[in-house]
Amino acid sequence: MKYNNVLITGGAGFVGSNIALKLKQDYPALRITCFDNLKRRGSELTLPRLRDAGITFIHGDIRNPEDMEIENIDLLLECSAEPSVLAGINTSPNYLLNTNLVGTINCLELTRKNNADILFLSTSRVYPIEYINSLNYEEVETRFNITDNQDVLGASSKGIAESFPVDKPRSLYGATKLASEILIAEYLETYGLQGIVNRCGVITGPWQMGKVDQGVFVLWVAKHYFNQNLSYIGYGGEGKQVRDFIHIDDLYSAIKVQLDNFDSYNKGVFNIGGGVENSLSLQELTKLCQKVTGNSIQIDSIKEDRPADLRFFITDSSKFIEKSGLKWQKNAEMTVSDIYQWIKDNEAALKPILS
Ligand SMILES: NC(=O)c1ccc[n+]([C@@H]2O[C@H](COP(=O)([O-])OP(=O)(O)OC[C@H]3O[C@@H](n4cnc5c(N)ncnc54)[C@H](O)[C@@H]3O)[C@@H](O)[C@H]2O)c1
Repeated sequence: MKYNNVLITGGAGFVGSNIALKLKQDYPALRITCFDNLKRRGSELTLPRLRDAGITFIHGDIRNPEDMEIENIDLLLECSAEPSVLAGINTSPNYLLNTNLVGTINCLELTRKNNADILFLSTSRVYPIEYINSLNYEEVETRFNITDNQDVLGASSKGIAESFPVDKPRSLYGATKLASEILIAEYLETYGLQGIVNRCGVITGPWQMGKVDQGVFVLWVAKHYFNQNLSYIGYGGEGKQVRDFIHIDDLYSAIKVQLDNFDSYNKGVFNIGGGVENSLSLQELTKLCQKVTGNSIQIDSIKEDRPADLRFFITDSSKFIEKSGLKWQKNAEMTVSDIYQWIKDNEAALKPILS
C-alpha cells in the first residue's frame, strides 16, 4: 500500500464506513478521514465505530467546495451518493444532481489540488434499462434467468459485461454516475492523475441501512426479523426478479487488491458484482430469510411495474476476476446470516431505522 492519507467521502455510509474500518484493520498506520453529511438515516450509528478505530470524521457536504478544502490527501475513495435509483423520479432531482454530479466535480478538484489518486464507486445502473429489459430470458419456477443467446453486445448467461452499450436512458441516478465516470476519465487524462472506476451491482451486508428504494437484501431480512409485511412489486408480482449481490467483505477484498496494485488497475473501468452464483430472486430471498430468521411474513403482490425496475441484473465481472484471480467468499446463506446476526446484535439501535 503506497498511501499514507486516505479521504473517504460518504465515509459514514454503508460502503465507506466498512471499507474505512477494514482498511484501518489491515493497515494500522494509515491515516483515514471519513467525510459525510450524514444525510442517510443510520449513518450516524457508524460514528462511534469510526472514532473507536482511530479514524477521523469530518461532517461536511461534497456539494460545497468550501467543505472540500482538505490538504495532504494521497487517495480519495469516493463512496458518497444519493444512491437510490428512484431519486428524482417523483421529486426534484436537485439533491441527486448536486451530490452525484456536482459533488464528483468537487471531489475531482480535491484530487487535482492534492495530486491524489481516486477510486470511484460507480454502479451497474449506468447500463440502459431498455437494453437490459429487452434481453432474452427464460422464466422458471422461482425466477427469471438470463440466457446465452443474446443480440446485445456484452450480454451472455454470465450477465452484463463492460462492453454492454450505454447509449440509452438508464435513470437519473445512473446518468449522474455515467456522467461522473466521463469527467473522471477527462481529469485523469488532462491532469495526469490516476483513477479506477468500479461499476458495482448490488452490494450488501452488515451496516447497510436498507430501505424500499435501496438496500433490498437488508430490507428483506429486516422485515422478516421484525415480522412486518413486504410486497413483490412488478413483473407479475410473483417475486421472480433477480439480482446478483456482493457481500461487503468481498467488495473490500476487491478494492484492497486494486489499492495494493493501483498502477496496474489505473484508468480501468471494472464491473464488480456477485455474478450468477451469487444471485437470488425475491422469492428465493424470501425462502432464505424464512430459514435464517425462522419467521414467515405476509408478502403482498403488486402486478404493476415500478419505474426504472429491471427484470434481472447479473454482473459479468470476468474482466476483474481474471485480472485479480479473486474468488468471492460469501454466498447467499452466509450473507443473509451475517445481516441477521448484525440486526440481532444491534436490535434496539436498528429497529427505528429498519422497521
Ligand atoms: N449499496 C449498493 O448496492 C451500491 C451498488 C452500486 C453502487 N453503489 C455506490 O456505492 C457508493 C456507496 O453507497 P452506499 O451503499 O454506501 O450508500 P449509503 O447511502 O449507505 O452511503 C452514502 C453516504 O453518503 C452520504 N452522503 C449523501 N450525500 C452526501 C453529500 N452531499 N455530502 C457528503 N456525504 C453525502 C450519506 O450520508 C451516506 O452516509 C455510492 O456511490 C453508491 O452509488 C452502491
